[in-house]
Amino acid sequence: MSSSHPRKFRSQEWFYSTEYYSFARRAYLRSEGLTRESIEGKPIIGICNSWSELNHCNVHLRQVAEAVKRGVWQAGGVPLEFPTISLGEVFMKPTTMLYRNLMAMDVEESIRANPIDGVVLLCGCDKTTPAQLMGAASANVPAIMVTGGPMLSGQWKDQKLGSGTDGRKLFDLYRTGELNEEELAEIEGCVARSNGHCMVMGTASTMTSLAEVLGMTLPGCAAIPAVDSRRAAIAELSGRRIVEMVHEQLLPSQIMTRRAFENAIKIDMAIGGSTNAVVHLIAIAGRLGIKLTLEDFDRLSKVTPCIVNVKPSGAYLMEDFFFAGGVPAVLKEMLPMLDGACLTASGKSLAENVENAECFYPDVIRPRSNPMNEEGGTLVLYGNLAPDGAVFKHTAASPHLLQHRGKAYVFEDHHQMLEDVERDDLPVDESSVLVMKNGGPHGGPGFPEWGHIPMPKALLNKGIKDVVRISDSRMSGTSFGTVVLHIAPESAIGGPLAMVQTGDEISLDTRNRRLDVNLPAEEIGRRMKAFTPPAPHYRRGYGKMFLDHVTQANLGCDFDFLLPE
Ligand code: FES
Repeated sequence: MSSSHPRKFRSQEWFYSTEYYSFARRAYLRSEGLTRESIEGKPIIGICNSWSELNHCNVHLRQVAEAVKRGVWQAGGVPLEFPTISLGEVFMKPTTMLYRNLMAMDVEESIRANPIDGVVLLCGCDKTTPAQLMGAASANVPAIMVTGGPMLSGQWKDQKLGSGTDGRKLFDLYRTGELNEEELAEIEGCVARSNGHCMVMGTASTMTSLAEVLGMTLPGCAAIPAVDSRRAAIAELSGRRIVEMVHEQLLPSQIMTRRAFENAIKIDMAIGGSTNAVVHLIAIAGRLGIKLTLEDFDRLSKVTPCIVNVKPSGAYLMEDFFFAGGVPAVLKEMLPMLDGACLTASGKSLAENVENAECFYPDVIRPRSNPMNEEGGTLVLYGNLAPDGAVFKHTAASPHLLQHRGKAYVFEDHHQMLEDVERDDLPVDESSVLVMKNGGPHGGPGFPEWGHIPMPKALLNKGIKDVVRISDSRMSGTSFGTVVLHIAPESAIGGPLAMVQTGDEISLDTRNRRLDVNLPAEEIGRRMKAFTPPAPHYRRGYGKMFLDHVTQANLGCDFDFLLPE
């Protein structure tokens, strides 16, 4: 290895010059035990690992990284694994969404600052996938993603259990006394029975599926269960492929094009994906200068059938989805509605990738001629309560509430909501509209998943399982119910939701995509004038930076200064 080595790769800027630090870098890399022959003239492949014991969904990613390394060595590259912050959905407070942009910055700067020619992104839990895609998009060096895969299906007695979705339902039965302490403890032991991320079509499965649709993984990656040996096999193949991608200089910006994002939106609708995908796709696209809007989602939702029968919108779990053919089978079925020419990490087009894909269980992945729903899972609402939009997952809602008028019962914030829903005497009935304020990016803070307001005990006691619930917050992709989310602008910065009072009449009109409070314009104006914003949650540190720079839900909640110039 000499300082006059020809420069073929980005990393060689670090290792081959006449300055002292090139010598020092070569020497210190030797300190890791790598011989000259191991590294000379080879591309360096960063393995960006979001492994953490504080993130159970990603806790097996070290084994996945070992398989990736095998593939990188086989193809003539040098794998160097590095950690980033990890975001464990159920552990972090107030919400992982507060930190998605921090992780994206960590990923971007780790790639940018280091001698990395290509990167393999290892993710799984909800926010780790979009954060890595955002960071890799901004860094724009060759990148491939290997997702960690879903958990195996849960099972309690004779019931199949989906983490999140069924856990919530059974916890409600515990709240009303229909399940006892002992039964709850049994369920706790079998609802999340293996490594991997939540195994319903929640945010994690949605985002990993959409990473595959965008072309950032090898075909078939998303649905392989975390503990299936094929997970290690696809990791090894991805390690081999990233070395080729470096030689080809195939960049994220060539893969994640506007056409690829339109494909991703359609498949989000076809799989009954999480409402969180709206925020994340807008943010990832934004990093590449592609302006996705809520109108894009609504337009494509109207013409795209939902064909995947997986919880929370359907009946099956991710393991069933894998055996049915996974994302390639969905893509094959949907191909006439997609742009099949989009280039993917495999080096082939989307259409070429799925040429031989088959569906083996047509009740899990249905033909377009027999969809779960004629329209996609997520629709966008506007109205005097949501001038900049709100999202609604109608496939997870109760059909009888899709057109609804009812009196509001208002929770001023999350704390009040948590106390009130336990009251046996809460003055609500089946026609009530539960309204929660201060759950948005500023109000939460961090745009937490509080929008799935638990059903008040007063209603559960009467056997009522669903009412209309609205907020400026998000909802876990594993949740269900008639829940309007992401109202923008949010209440904490003076959005119209801030002036709703208990007793006001709210109209939800999904047919016409409307969400309104039925008040005269003068009364709305009078109340808006009287608005005083709540005190900011942070005055220093990352929290302050978040509040100073986060954009609203309809713009993806990225930081304004992270968009391309
Ligand atoms: Fe990580 Fe559900 S807790 S995906």
